[in-house]
Amino acid sequence: MDYSHYKTASAIPEAASMIETFRAIGYSIEAAVADVIDNSISATAKNVYVNFEWKGVQTWLSIKDDGHGMNNDELIQAMRPGSQNPLADRSVSDLGRFGLGLKTASFSQCRKLSVISKRENQETVFWTWDLDFVNQTGKWDLINYLPDSEKFEAEISELKSGTIVIWNDIDRVVKNFRSDDDRALEKFLFIMEQVKKHLAMVFHRFIETGKIKIYFQDRLVEAWNPFLTSETATQGFPAEPLHNGKVTIKGYVLPHKSKITEEVFKNAEGPKGWNEQQGFYIYRNERLLLAGDWLGMFRKEEHYKLARIGIDLPNSLDAEWQIDIKKSVARPPLVLREQLKAYAGQVRNQAVAVYRHRGKNVRQLPGQKFVPLWVEHKRGDRWFYKINRDHSVIEEIRKQAETEPGRAISLLLRFIEETVPAKAIYIKEAEEPEAMGKPFEATNQEPIREAMSQIYVKLVNEGKSEEIAKAIILNIEPFNHFPHFLEFLD
Ligand SMILES: Nc1ncnc2c1ncn2[C@@H]1O[C@H](COP(=O)(O)OP(=O)(O)OP(=O)(O)O)[C@@H](O)[C@H]1O
Ligand SMILES: [Mg+2]
Repeated sequence: MDYSHYKTASAIPEAASMIETFRAIGYSIEAAVADVIDNSISATAKNVYVNFEWKGVQTWLSIKDDGHGMNNDELIQAMRPGSQNPLADRSVSDLGRFGLGLKTASFSQCRKLSVISKRENQETVFWTWDLDFVNQTGKWDLINYLPDSEKFEAEISELKSGTIVIWNDIDRVVKNFRSDDDRALEKFLFIMEQVKKHLAMVFHRFIETGKIKIYFQDRLVEAWNPFLTSETATQGFPAEPLHNGKVTIKGYVLPHKSKITEEVFKNAEGPKGWNEQQGFYIYRNERLLLAGDWLGMFRKEEHYKLARIGIDLPNSLDAEWQIDIKKSVARPPLVLREQLKAYAGQVRNQAVAVYRHRGKNVRQLPGQKFVPLWVEHKRGDRWFYKINRDHSVIEEIRKQAETEPGRAISLLLRFIEETVPAKAIYIKEAEEPEAMGKPFEATNQEPIREAMSQIYVKLVNEGKSEEIAKAIILNIEPFNHFPHFLEFLD
């Protein structure tokens, strides 16, 4: 198209409204902090320090790194929304994509974003985005201001090179709280604890390999590995290459609760809890993007909670996997969905087996076989649950019935009521809906007819009309399933 034929008009984004819009991208505070740390890792930092100080409305949070830092021009460029083109190729270890994260993550949480930075042997520089100032002037202008400048200048002077990102007016998490509001403080500390857990998860591979140390209020953050690879009872599935070998998938079935210590079990539940953490874990350049999500392929259910599956992507597939600005969404390309689903199906089956096997068993003595009271069995294509006739309780009750039939029957009924295998039935129903048999389906139905006619005779002997006796019987379970037997009653 030849643009020279056309008149043009300038339509520069309106600064005040545009920058407020950045606030609405929908970051959680933990995702926002992680996005800032991405930049530290891309800048080859070895240490990252997350610090904060509770001061009510004036609470601040800082993220410091000892990466290569920036000079004045680079910092101004970094502060620009859209500082890099998303279509540009990135180095294989770069965690960025859109040239937005620093700004959008920060503005999602605070109204003042300050950055102070230093390249080795160069002078220290700082700039601040202040949303109130942008609102006043309507201009995309940074101000050369640094809050608490003595403190942060002193901190950066201790580094050869590095960067500190500082958030002030953290209005999303800290509203108009006073510094002596203890309940607000408690809530704030709880949120910070969530942030710490999130970082331990998102960057666990970097922490495990010693590429980076993250300090949270001066305490070293320990990696949280979703796959419990250090436990011998964890079952790893073979890794499979996908997408011409650019993507790798590897599934794990975590150990049953009884095979690990209580502490390990508690820790393995992760930031969101056992049930929530099942599913795919998508890593992009070793950084976890998505933690525990079945990508719309399956529902999260209690009995699949031991299944966790890692997927590894390079950043060259960002567009195909629809990576979002927040680095918290990824969607597999359609062509891969079936493969992922098939692989996940195998892992899920094994996860159910582990969950169930132990779920059904009581602690075993060595060399002794577990004796179930209920056994699963199949008639035709339907599943039923049957009482194990050889069970020692049943044997005892049978003996008792010879002398005290009333008590024996009560005891039997109690045992049945208390031990109905609800969990196993629930799992079966979820796995194969409609596969449960109906009473007396596909088997000899003589006992039903016999019981029906005994009750019928009793009702008629009591003076009920034949019509009424039949109506009563049809309201009794399980006779309601067998209306066609009524005709044999006369
Ligand atoms: N801690 C840091 N140390 C060195 N350079 C940094 C640091 N933080 C940001 N930068 C520079 O600023 C640029 C912009 O960062 P920003 O997070 O906004 O975008 P990005 O990382 O390029 O992409 P994305 O939007 O995907 O995060 C980075 O590309 C990097 O060059
Ligand atoms: Mg970034």
